[in-house]
Amino acid sequence: MCGIVAYLGYRQACPIILKGLHRLEYRGYDSAGVALMNDGELNVYKKKGKVAELENFIAEKDTHARVGMGHTRWATHGEPNDTNAHPHYSTSERIAIIHNGIIENYAALKTHLQQQGHEFHSDTDTEVFVNLIEEIQQHNHCNLEEAVRLALHEVVGAYAIVVMSRDAPNQLIAARKGSPMVIGIGDGEFFIASDATPIIEYTNEVVYVNDYEIAIIRDGRLELRSKEDVEQTPYIQKLELELDSIEKGGYEHFMLKEIFEQPRSIMDSMRGRLEMNAGHLNMGGFRAYEQKFVNAQRIIVVACGTSWHAGLVAEYLLEDLARIPVEVEYASEFRYRNPVITERDIVIAISQSGETADTLAAIELAKSKGATIFGICNVVGSSIARATDAGAYTHAGPEIGVASTKAFTAQVTVLTLLAMLMGQKRGTLTDTKLRELMVELDTIPAKVEKALLLDDEIRAIAATFCDVPNFLYLGRGYNFPVALEGALKLKEISYIHAEGYPAAEMKHGPIALIDENMPVVVIATRDSSYEKVVSNIQEVKARKGRIIAVVTEGDDVIRDMAEFVIEVPYTSEALVPLVSVIPLQLLSYHIAVMRGCNVDQPRNLAKSVTVE
Ligand code: F6R
Repeated sequence: MCGIVAYLGYRQACPIILKGLHRLEYRGYDSAGVALMNDGELNVYKKKGKVAELENFIAEKDTHARVGMGHTRWATHGEPNDTNAHPHYSTSERIAIIHNGIIENYAALKTHLQQQGHEFHSDTDTEVFVNLIEEIQQHNHCNLEEAVRLALHEVVGAYAIVVMSRDAPNQLIAARKGSPMVIGIGDGEFFIASDATPIIEYTNEVVYVNDYEIAIIRDGRLELRSKEDVEQTPYIQKLELELDSIEKGGYEHFMLKEIFEQPRSIMDSMRGRLEMNAGHLNMGGFRAYEQKFVNAQRIIVVACGTSWHAGLVAEYLLEDLARIPVEVEYASEFRYRNPVITERDIVIAISQSGETADTLAAIELAKSKGATIFGICNVVGSSIARATDAGAYTHAGPEIGVASTKAFTAQVTVLTLLAMLMGQKRGTLTDTKLRELMVELDTIPAKVEKALLLDDEIRAIAATFCDVPNFLYLGRGYNFPVALEGALKLKEISYIHAEGYPAAEMKHGPIALIDENMPVVVIATRDSSYEKVVSNIQEVKARKGRIIAVVTEGDDVIRDMAEFVIEVPYTSEALVPLVSVIPLQLLSYHIAVMRGCNVDQPRNLAKSVTVE
């Protein structure tokens, strides 16, 4: 939530910052602002709305500056408006700050600072942070760096901040705890950002700032210090991100591009892991912990949202193929329960962004109880990837549309490989079955490609239903998580109320909703629960529900019952979510477009949820 970007160097800072804000807009888009240092003047410009509105606002202003910073906001404290937008000045307007995160003890700090004469204009916790820095600096007569360092000892919560001061015009101070931050190192120039996307076209040398580190950029160098003021050695890494991967490439929306990228992203998730020629599976992160996986007594999956749905698919996979008990937990609930966790448990944390605050906290809890933590993340170098004992990257490439699509299928692919590996090593999967699954998994990118050919057909179905107020999604077995995911996709981008249910549960309540106006998406591919799902379709039909069925190619039985039938290629039951989810992604996309919704940046959402 919230994107931060800053620049210090020989170029004009403002265009670099604005371009960076556009790239980071997926993280938050209710207001945006910049602070620019020009001739010893520290000017802040900010505006409610998208980055484009900020651009219009500053078009006539003097934005010359070689040092500056910008922010795109996802509101936590205070509604989205011009005043609550970042950057925030301190009372004297000598210091400005941008902040991604939440300061939990802001109320107590604010009262104290008000007593010291500091004035507040916004409802934000961030304005408290910058005044705290100012208060410390005035009180201790210290430089900005020292004041920031001391302030970090007083704030409780999460932050990635950049601070600028009129008194040190050629300097940027940054710090992080719990919110992401990466620094790009160019030739005589530096970039700070929430992720690498604003940086890639300028340099491929980056330093991922660690929690409790303070970065000082001045005099042409980057210095990293700990909160205890001990100098740290920056670990410079090479970025492996392509510029094309963060641009729309001719598609109308990132979401559509990402849906269509899935044959490729699934293949990338399998690359080097599914070795068909050699006939074996390979996963670096698994190898180092193989004995732990073999001897584990239980797997606990922690995740949120779509990643939690991938976790549910993993429950079916791991129980089926590796015969191990699995619990799938909402990270937000797990962290605040008093869960029973032992050293023989393996916790699998799934997160596209690798920054989700609840998932991170669940990891810390499980770690403290001695469990082994295995991460499945998309963003390389992200906080979760670094907090886990071992893991596997999904390699889906940057996912910019806020609604997760290719990250989900990449997660499911990696989880499938993991379940197969575990099944093999635990002796629960015969060589023949393993080989069959490998052969079938290898065909999945082509089957997804085929499912994507349904796009026009699905657009026509979307046109029929784009004005309805409610949707129900039903599935059983491996398709139950797919039903949940289909419903989540629809509600988050089209704002249509949608519920996903295990098909058989319908008669225990939701069936009361069904009448001639209720569209019911039933995922009814040929698998072990097919006959049962057919009965559930009959139950919907008997109540005049409007059935849209996702079926296996060649299914004539359901064709006679459903108003619309979407035929996807056949695959093994364990792999079916990778194919059956595709039409649901397309359906939600087209409905949202037809309703005039902002598909890539749905209201109230942000891509990376770094607050609990
Ligand atoms: C839905 C969606 C969210 C995320 C959730 C977890 O389309 O994207 O539900 O899945 O916020 O995010 P990550 O996977 O980054 O931990």
